[in-house]
Amino acid sequence: MPAPIVDDEYKKSIEKARRSLRAFIAEKNCAPIMLRLAWHDAGTYDASSRTGGPNGSIRSEREFTHGANNGLKIAIDFCEAIKVKYPVITYADIYQLAGVVAVEVTGGPTIEFVPGRKDSVATPPEGRLPDARKGPSHLKDIFYRMGLSDKDIVALSGGHTLGRAHKERSGFEGPWTANPLKFDNSYFGELLKGESDGLLLLPTDKALLEDPAFRPYVELYARDEDVFFRDYAESHKKLSELGCVHS
Ligand code: HEM
Repeated sequence: MPAPIVDDEYKKSIEKARRSLRAFIAEKNCAPIMLRLAWHDAGTYDASSRTGGPNGSIRSEREFTHGANNGLKIAIDFCEAIKVKYPVITYADIYQLAGVVAVEVTGGPTIEFVPGRKDSVATPPEGRLPDARKGPSHLKDIFYRMGLSDKDIVALSGGHTLGRAHKERSGFEGPWTANPLKFDNSYFGELLKGESDGLLLLPTDKALLEDPAFRPYVELYARDEDVFFRDYAESHKKLSELGCVHS
């Protein structure tokens, strides 16, 4: 599919869609699943073949039925309500805009949003997203394939400050933090405290403590929320633009 023409009309629609998304996410309290949708559309990127990435392909049934995407049809349908109002905007841009707005409206950093992503219906092979049961070397394999770094891995894992796992979707259960609708650095503080009642730690969360390249960032982000917000905004922008010409 061709790239959208990002003219004044397109930019105006983006600003209107941004406002609609703010209201929609606040009303439905659905920031966590919107962020997860944006990440799962983008996180299939393979830098060597330049396939996958934030291209809206997750809307196809072939892709949203991949095991890693269990539950995300809910967010795809939420975004369809926005697409219907602003049909000029690509699905790829709507999903990434929803991710950026989800972080903002829950109190997180402002993430620069550059529109112009192309839509695709090409389904990436299953298995490109991380497996929560694995350790540090798996995380590195997956994120390096996207062209991301150790620092990006730790900063982006801070996305688990929002939301929770659902047994029927992933086999895991519970939130990572005491307030899963607030974007802050509490994910890192909880991670350093270790297992605690009622809160979740995936094996891949614990992997951030085990690896000498990851751990200093966990400690830094637990200590200094401003630094976390700065690095998170930078890594999220990179994730949201993987494979895009303007990145
Ligand atoms: C939820 C795994 C990285 C954002 C989940 C769930 C799993 C998971 C198993 C639970 C799904 C469910 O049962 O509903 C992982 C693994 C990662 C990773 C293995 C590797 C580092 C990320 C990143 C972000 C993110 C990079 C965003 C920047 C979220 C959010 C939820 C979530 C917001 C909550 C969704 C909800 O409440 O419905 N993740 N994730 N995750 N993930 Fe991740």
